Amino acid sequence: MRELAKRLAKAEVISVLTGAGVSAESGVPTFRGEDGFWKGRRAEDLATPQAFASNPETVWTFYDWRRSLLAKCRPNTGHSALAELEGLVPRMHLITQNVDGLHQAAGSRCVTEMHGSIWRVRCQSGCGEHEDRRTPFPPPLPPRCACGALLRPAVVWFGERLPLEALEAADEAARSADVFIVAGTSAVVEPAASFARLARSTGAYLVEINPEATPLSSLADDVIREPSARAIPQIVDLRKQSWADSQ
Ligand code: APR
Repeated sequence: MRELAKRLAKAEVISVLTGAGVSAESGVPTFRGEDGFWKGRRAEDLATPQAFASNPETVWTFYDWRRSLLAKCRPNTGHSALAELEGLVPRMHLITQNVDGLHQAAGSRCVTEMHGSIWRVRCQSGCGEHEDRRTPFPPPLPPRCACGALLRPAVVWFGERLPLEALEAADEAARSADVFIVAGTSAVVEPAASFARLARSTGAYLVEINPEATPLSSLADDVIREPSARAIPQIVDLRKQSWADSQ
């Protein structure tokens, strides 16, 4: 913790990569946990372009169900602390794999959504139509665009490329970070997890927040085995104290 305090005090750039675990204490299921979305369901049947092509109604039912679950969830103290951190450091990058919008709901302004947003839909034909959508679609599913093509959730499915702007933002976040915090991700999905490795290899002090071990744990300079709603506010307090002490 002493080294972490020192690094936080000096940090000009702090980058944070979040995953489903940071929303767990808001009541959002993770993907691979005991009650996770992928327990008893096959991601291949629900979150791939092939699944959408062969059964768009099933895919839409899954996403509308998730949206109705998420509509009841509110940001937790981890999300709020990250929003506060934005105002405490010269530069902060927040890269999230989450599609739930809870970082923005907590007040974070600069958020890169690597895997898109569950609150947006887009036309599959590429006619350019995008729509914000908070409520489930009325039957019959799947919904259609005015151009006649199917509408789809504006998320990144398995087997799809990440948006170029998201990749560029994550690359910049990793390379420029003095401290890189990776919180609430199993770090098994690429390329997201690789940005923590890139950050470490380009000189960042790598901190992992996760109650469980991940493939990144052995690489991390500091590992905090606590839920993020407790650990992230502690880190933000540590930055405040150590920065004030260093002035
Ligand atoms: N605080 C911090 N971490 C937690 C908490 C918590 N309260 N609860 C659980 N975790 C950790 C788990 O130990 C696990 O390592 O969060 C991690 C969640 O891992 P996953 O369910 O695999 O979620 P994530 O890493 O975000 O998945 C990546 O996979 O299915 C795709 O596109 C989806 O963005 C998602 C990607």
